[in-house]
Parts: sequence; structure tokens; C-alpha cells
Amino acid sequence: MSAFALPLEDYALLPDDDCDRLIVAAKQRLGSRCVILGHHYQRDEVFRHADFTGDSLKLSRLAAQSEASYIVFCGVHFMAEVADILSRPEQIAILPDLAAGCSMADMANLVNVERCWQELATVVDVESTVTPVTYINSAADLKAFCGNHGGIVCTSSNARKILEWSFARRRKVLFFPDQHLGRNTGYRMGIPLEQMAVWDYTRPMGGLTEEQIEKARILLWKGFCSVHQMFRPEHIDRFKAEYPETLVIAHPEAAFEVCEKADYIGSTESILATVKAAPPNTRWLVATELNLVNRLHQECKADGKHVHFMSPTVCMCSTMFRTDPQHLAWILENLAEGRVVNRIEVPEVVARPARQALDAMLSVV
Ligand code: 13P
Ligand code: SF4
Repeated sequence: MSAFALPLEDYALLPDDDCDRLIVAAKQRLGSRCVILGHHYQRDEVFRHADFTGDSLKLSRLAAQSEASYIVFCGVHFMAEVADILSRPEQIAILPDLAAGCSMADMANLVNVERCWQELATVVDVESTVTPVTYINSAADLKAFCGNHGGIVCTSSNARKILEWSFARRRKVLFFPDQHLGRNTGYRMGIPLEQMAVWDYTRPMGGLTEEQIEKARILLWKGFCSVHQMFRPEHIDRFKAEYPETLVIAHPEAAFEVCEKADYIGSTESILATVKAAPPNTRWLVATELNLVNRLHQECKADGKHVHFMSPTVCMCSTMFRTDPQHLAWILENLAEGRVVNRIEVPEVVARPARQALDAMLSVV
């Protein structure tokens, strides 16, 4: 065994089939010491190697419960951070490609969230009035911010319960970074649109007046997912003009107007469960990432179900797509030789309050 890591360049040009064989062999050598978690947006060539697949909530729980020494997260950066925070100190979280981030998560950072908090404090007593809620799609230091200010984390599958928890404590919520998840969830809890104000983090006081801040029950950070913003209500209208029997299902990161026209709204895990459980020969229009929809289409074909992607243009999550068989083979062959590459490690000073906000979420759902 050499002390030096096998270089990524040795793998970059390997054909997928060769990587496949290396991945299977390395997994066999590693056995129970390594677990591979795969998000539903991963491409097939990677997804097939996952020991467990799921949405953000399910994968967080799996990371917290795992006994493996190495947790290889085929997903994006914030997911591997959560795995590191929730696992035991001696366990190691690994992200196959360090450039696999989330553009929505990057729309909020600690500097502009702290500035927002200070600006809100000039209008209301923030600590007793506002619960900060961060979508799990956010950096660890924002989860820590929530932990330090009596707040909590949510995912797309538990956002409603988390907002209920938050309103049971304080009368307002600052929700970041995804305005759509906040709006879609708040509206379905009965909060009128006029009581949800968008906080534009590029402008002083979020671009809001004191009166607007006072009136708002939810302050929605002006963030969005570049993939889910591609789905438009007119896509549904056009499709239904041809196939009126179509059932529409959307991820809550999609725009309000899309969710308004949807028959079902849910996380990636719930989209899969709903369509798979539907009667044979039904037709579905799905507003979420393309890799998930393509796989669902293949799986449901035998039942005579028709599963269609909502947007006429291809919109994949380019950062989820970064994890390829070449990176996975590189990671696993190094691990099988006892060398850790691409470890994600959150410093304890951040991890401790972030864990508090994550544990609060896991105790609610
Ligand atoms: P889920 O938790 O529904 O899998 O969503 C994660 C995500 O990044 C959606 O864009
Ligand atoms: Fe982030 Fe959107 Fe990709 Fe999900 S689909 S990881 S929210 S950029």
C-alpha cells in the first residue's frame, strides 16, 4: 500500500464500464466499513451503486444511524456536511466531487443572514418574535445560526410540521434560502400571500418597509432552485390540452403558480411513492429533476403508466450530475487502500449548534 492517494487523473478518462467494475470490486473489499448514500437526482451510473437511496430527510436519518466507518455521499455538499454533523466523531463523510454544491444553498450566507437578523432587530424583538428556519439545502454555518437562535432545520418533506413547531414558539418565521418552499408550505397552512414578504438580501432592510416587516408572518429569503424555476404553469396547460386526464405532481421548490395547478406536492421520496402507488395506466406530469423522472418513467412503464417531465427543455441539476463513476471509483479505490480523499469535516464550533438545529428537526419528525 502506497502512502500517496491514487490521482484522480488516472480515472478521469476511464470508460464507465471499467469504473463500474472497479467500484464493485472496491465495495466488496470495503464491506460493511463503507456505506454509499445516493440522492434521487444522481445519474443512473452512480445511483445503481448506492446502498441506500432517498430524499434529504431519509438520507440524513440513514447517515445518523449508520455504523459504517466511511459514509460516501453521492449528493451535494450540504448533504455530506449533514452526514458529518450527525454521525459519530470517528466516522468519516466523503463527497466524491468537492465541486458538487447547490446553487440555491449558495444564495444565503452567514454574512447576509446575520445582517438580515440585525436589520429585523431594529423593527421587532427578534429573539422572542422570529424563529429562523433553514431549509436543509444550506451551509452548516446557517444551520448553526438557527441552533444559536432557537431555530430549526427543515426538509421538503417536513416543512409544514417544522413551521407548526416554529409558530408554536414565536409568531414570525425567517425562512431561508428557498422562498418557494416557504411560500408553498405557508400558503397550505392557511397563511395568506399578503402575510408572506420576500426578503431581498441584496437590498437594505430586505427592500421592505417597517410596516411590511411587522405585518409578515413569514419572511421569505429571495432564493430559488435554478432547476425547479424552469417549470411553468403554461407547461401544465399545454400538456393537459392534449391529455386532460393527466395528474400533476410537483416538488415544493417549484413556483407557487405551478404548485397551485398540481394535484400533489411532495419531496423526491414522496413523488416516487405517489406515482409508484398510483393505479396502472395513469398519466403523470412531474416537476422535478430529470434523472429522477427518467428513472420513474422506466420503472412504471410495465404498469402502463406514462410519466412525463414537465419542462420542454432539459433541466438537470448540474451539480448533482458532477458525481460520476470516475469520481466514485477514485474515492472507493483509495478507501480500499486505507486512504481518505475528499473528506467533509465541519468544525465542532459550527457542528455543535448545527446539530442542535438538526436534532430539533429529527425530534419533530
Ligand atoms: P428532497 O429532500 O425532496 O430530496 O430535495 C432535495 C433537493 O435538493 C431538491 O432540489
Ligand atoms: Fe440545489 Fe436545485 Fe440541485 Fe436541489 S436541484 S441540489 S436545490 S440546485
